[in-house]
Amino acid sequence: MGKAKLFFVDTGGTGEPVVLLHAFPLDGRMWEAQAKELGAQNRVIVPDLPGFGRSANVPFTSMEQAADDVIAVLDALEIARATVAGLSMGGYVTLALTRRHASRVSRLGLCDTRAEADSAETRKGREVNMALVAREGVGALVEKMLPSLLSPEASLETKERVRSIGGSQTQEGVTAALGAMRDRADATPWLPSFEMPALVVVGALDTLSPLSCSNAMANKLPHVELEVIPGSGHLANLEKPAAFTGTLSRLLSRTR
Ligand code: MLT
Repeated sequence: MGKAKLFFVDTGGTGEPVVLLHAFPLDGRMWEAQAKELGAQNRVIVPDLPGFGRSANVPFTSMEQAADDVIAVLDALEIARATVAGLSMGGYVTLALTRRHASRVSRLGLCDTRAEADSAETRKGREVNMALVAREGVGALVEKMLPSLLSPEASLETKERVRSIGGSQTQEGVTAALGAMRDRADATPWLPSFEMPALVVVGALDTLSPLSCSNAMANKLPHVELEVIPGSGHLANLEKPAAFTGTLSRLLSRTR
């Protein structure tokens, strides 16, 4: 049995376990609607990734380390296999986890994310964001990112939720995650080897990880369904919770 370092919420229950991995710069609270809805049938496990939320004390050095930390949660709960879904940064961790621990993943959800590594321009942008956080704090980065995290159609309540969860993160945690995202490997070559059911889902208005990234992943996964959520931006689970949860429910009912 492993020792879990990460904070996590476990809805309990006996249904197929589902692990949900959050986006940057948020924490597990972004999955509240999905945990509630899916938790009626499934056992939903929502960790705060290293450096975020109540795992703020755990360092985030790489996607691989974050993936191993999530596996330690499953070990501690004695869960052999689970459906693993991650949104954006959570998707990067999901890809690393599935690559390293394929036998632990019964189904895969890649949400508003991409398999390829950062471009040279995006890497430069990470450095700019690190400097912004050092100079003006995490709240300033959340404000800067807000127009790309949510579509112009997002409700005021959703915007405030993102401000509130994002603004509560620590400078150290956010800076470490920016470095880990900048340095992550290209997961594309591994995609064709995943033999279990996969879902790729994206908000139609996502500009951060646009439909082209989802198409690229879906083209490489052998047993995939691609779903596009109309009227939603990047944080599709927050903007369109019912439609988004529906895609995860459909994934859970698939055998291939
Ligand atoms: C996220 O939503 O997790 C981030 O925007 C991902 C990224 O910056 O690459």
